[in-house]
Amino acid sequence: MSAAIPVDSKNSGHPIGVFDSGIGGLTVVAALRRTLPGEKILYLGDTARVPYGGKSPETVTRYSKEISDLLVAEGAKMIVAACNTASALAVPSLSLSYPVPLVGVIEPGAAAAVLATRNGRIGVIATRATITSDAYGKAIKALDPAVSVTAVACPLLVPLIEEGLFDDDITRTMLRRYLEPLLRAGIDTLVLGCTHYPLLKSLIGRVCGKRVTLVDSAENCALAVRALISPSGSVLPEGESRLDVLLTDSSEGFLRIAEKSLDLTIDSLNIRKVGK
Ligand code: DGL
Repeated sequence: MSAAIPVDSKNSGHPIGVFDSGIGGLTVVAALRRTLPGEKILYLGDTARVPYGGKSPETVTRYSKEISDLLVAEGAKMIVAACNTASALAVPSLSLSYPVPLVGVIEPGAAAAVLATRNGRIGVIATRATITSDAYGKAIKALDPAVSVTAVACPLLVPLIEEGLFDDDITRTMLRRYLEPLLRAGIDTLVLGCTHYPLLKSLIGRVCGKRVTLVDSAENCALAVRALISPSGSVLPEGESRLDVLLTDSSEGFLRIAEKSLDLTIDSLNIRKVGK
């Protein structure tokens, strides 16, 4: 994360640019809305090329660069990579090449997990690409090398969530299977390392039990964005709060599910081509 670059105060009326491989990043938008209610948000969901979770670092970096270029051209004062896969695979190499801060979800989530654990055993669930990159493991170990990290890829959760199966037997069965090795490892903290997982928070909480603290990377990313916009923690002036959404292909079904579940109001929705 390029946390050292302050957000230019001249840009205060400009939107925060947020991108994701698809619709799931609206969980980060919902967290930003709660944390920074007076900000304009320009969201780009790359619905034409979703999912990123099984793609190579080169492809995810190319997609993330194309989208970040577009958001900067649209006047974004900072870019938030809501997508965990893009945060893991692309943000480290891209963050220094933009004139505005580029914030990912990995470091804020890792920091919150290290703060939350009492027994030093943290679990991470995410897409295959995020788990293979070991981005969360590295970020957690950089903060506390004594912590043990158990990570499990959960590739079937994204499609189940996109079908709206938030509290369904199939989802419960898959969660039990994915979470079993983490619970066996004795974790007391679990990082929800994918945009979509906050939508399953209550079911994941029930499967894990009360002893496990869930770390929502969306919430922690929003707090990191707030710290960039207001480093002193001062009360921010109420600006015009808008949510403009650009999608690279139509994706009405999950968009409406996410909008309703996250209690978001979308002010404009347009299709925009990105890349070749
Ligand atoms: N947005 C992705 C993430 O947070 C999940 C969906 C995908 O695989 O593209 O990792």
